[in-house]
Amino acid sequence: MSALSTTLDGATAILTLDLPGEPVNKLNAEVKREFESALATLREDANVRAIVLISGKPDTFIAGADIEEFTRLTTLVEFERLSGEGQVLLQQLADFPKPIVVAIHGPCLGGGLELALACHYRICTDSPKTQLGLPEVQLGLLPGAGGSNRLPRLIGARAALDIILAGKSERGQKAFRLGMVDELVPVSILRSTALAAAERLAQSGIRSMVRRPKTGFMGLLLDRNPLGRRIVYAAARKQLLKKTGGHYPAPVAALEAVEVGLERGGAEGYAFERRKFAELAITDVSRKLIQIFFATNALKKDFGAGMDSVRPRTLERIGVIGSGFMGAGIAGTAVANAVVDVRLKDTELQKVGRGLKGAIDILKGRLKRRRITKQEFERLSALLSGTTDFSGFGRVDLVIEAVFEDLELKRRVLRETEAATPDTTIFATNTSTIPIAQIAAPSIRPERVLGMHFFSPVDRMPLVEVIPAPKTSAETIATVVGFGRKLGKTVIVVHDSPGFWVNRILTPYMNEAGFLVAEGTPIEQLDRTMTRFGFPVGPITLLDEVGIDVGAKAGAVMHAAFGERLTPSNVVAKMIADGRFGRKNGRGFYHYHEGERTGVDEKVYDLLGVRPKETTSPETIEQRLIYAMLNEAAMAESEAVVRSPRDGDIGAIFGIGFPPFRGGPLRMIDDLGAARVVSVLKDLASTYGSRFTPATKLVEMADSGGRYYPG
Ligand code: 3HC
Repeated sequence: MSALSTTLDGATAILTLDLPGEPVNKLNAEVKREFESALATLREDANVRAIVLISGKPDTFIAGADIEEFTRLTTLVEFERLSGEGQVLLQQLADFPKPIVVAIHGPCLGGGLELALACHYRICTDSPKTQLGLPEVQLGLLPGAGGSNRLPRLIGARAALDIILAGKSERGQKAFRLGMVDELVPVSILRSTALAAAERLAQSGIRSMVRRPKTGFMGLLLDRNPLGRRIVYAAARKQLLKKTGGHYPAPVAALEAVEVGLERGGAEGYAFERRKFAELAITDVSRKLIQIFFATNALKKDFGAGMDSVRPRTLERIGVIGSGFMGAGIAGTAVANAVVDVRLKDTELQKVGRGLKGAIDILKGRLKRRRITKQEFERLSALLSGTTDFSGFGRVDLVIEAVFEDLELKRRVLRETEAATPDTTIFATNTSTIPIAQIAAPSIRPERVLGMHFFSPVDRMPLVEVIPAPKTSAETIATVVGFGRKLGKTVIVVHDSPGFWVNRILTPYMNEAGFLVAEGTPIEQLDRTMTRFGFPVGPITLLDEVGIDVGAKAGAVMHAAFGERLTPSNVVAKMIADGRFGRKNGRGFYHYHEGERTGVDEKVYDLLGVRPKETTSPETIEQRLIYAMLNEAAMAESEAVVRSPRDGDIGAIFGIGFPPFRGGPLRMIDDLGAARVVSVLKDLASTYGSRFTPATKLVEMADSGGRYYPG
């Protein structure tokens, strides 16, 4: 079966792309061949005066080049050829003697947008499903089928760099405003509008109708003038180096490609683009990012119940108990992303009011960033309501409990909820430290109880851990995993073990940071070393942000559960005794003035009785922190805390910002080789103590040459 089909409407040929057996259209080798052959036929067909290109998929235009194909290529030459072939095909569209109108609904990404940019006239729908973007840098690549050249020429350097360097997508309305498309229409008239445009263009000529975006004064100054553009490139380069820490070569190469394309033009621009595309495609960074893309996609289809036959139930109404920062965040995220009715409960009206305000603030943030319209804001706000009793809970499908971390309190809330809700209602407890089995123990319907561990702030943190209790049913797991996904989260199902996965592997890392501070390692040096490694923030900043009291509590639970290996340093206890809880009370390792961080609080060193000195090398700091985490990850994986290395690595990347270009802790062990990890751990153990004793699993892997992933 072919992907492209042609039908005639008067003198317009409608070219429909519908890749058989695939959920989305992708540009693979076969599709490219079909395009070439269709263009050759249509060029010669005297009955055809114009072409409309449209997707046969209901809600996708084209998801880009087929990323799967990239995994089969290895050399620079192969990738340069791939990019060159894409450029040549799209140039054929651009040079086609008859007008080509492209009708876009749904994702139009990467090579899909590059194809649209090569057409003569673009129409897209105003549906929220429509997104136009160039996400290549997120895969460690750059737009390699002409996009690095065509987009800046169409919409100017600044707007194009904004999209290309961040790998961003824009909704139809914004794409229209930027001049990426010529017309914006409702989906119901997409096809007819495209046909009408094709007919008009056939009569008046290709160039006659094309709308040029208004540039304005700044546009004239910065986009349409080589000196202005130089300022744009320099500013972008500076910002990029700061943001990527030099770990991600793709955005820098994309910036160069845009610059060469705009300043030197045509052939040179395209040649540079394909060479850089190939250079990036063979990097380890790109391979890692592509692995993460496929792992995340595989997770999207895995409902965690261990049985494909179990399907998630659809949830329409939820209750959230506890209207503190977590509860409000869950409520706001639920209305914003899952579009469900949310009833928020707390013990006092004032608390409920504060929680509802917190939830509405999340919606306001989206409105401000133009992610939702004023009407959507009104509609979503109306889904939120509050209560101090269980009124309205008689119809909820799921209750998420986010009260204080206290076992007896959580058990009482569970019992009260079960009395006030139907038998089918699921109860999910949000906890980071209490075993789910203990909370679930008094349940009268334990098959409908589990844990749902959110990270703070809920609306921004991308991960949720779902933790089944011993009697949780497969349907309950699948339903809650499905709901977590509706919230826009990446969800991993983890074992009910202290710290679950994310806090488990974070604990020895944070403890080690504490030991280093206690030894007099300067706080900035520690944080700087770990951001250079690739974490978004260093461990001390993280502790200030999360709350030193929260960290202390989690650390104590982990120590009690795992004994000597996870003994915390005494730093955290000293900070708490001095009333230092981190950013939230304006007193932490860092100084805060009116909410802004102003630098390390030097008094902390006096409090700890140390003099800060950079005596430990960055390499040693990095080794102590990272190897502690790798070792714990290996132990937890061998205890089946995660169901697979894939879940473990994705959990670390999305839960604590483990550097994506390193692929996750388990992948990092594979890259280093278990034998090397064991040898470094042994050295660390002989210098710093038995907490670094290598995990049994690592020693076995070192002996047998074992790996987490196929080599
Ligand atoms: N290549 C290969 N497979 C792709 C793909 C692509 N570009 N885009 C999506 N898929 C696959 C997914 O892996 C998944 O496969 P599976 O069913 O076997 O797991 C399937 O299509 C459906 O995808 P999703 O589950 O992600 O579907 P959603 O509806 O949730 O999302 C989407 C659709 C927004 C298009 C999302 O899939 C996406 O973001 N895709 C990647 C887009 C991208 O990065 N494009 C750039 C490619 S690189 C490029 O074009 C280079 C060029 O410049 C030369």
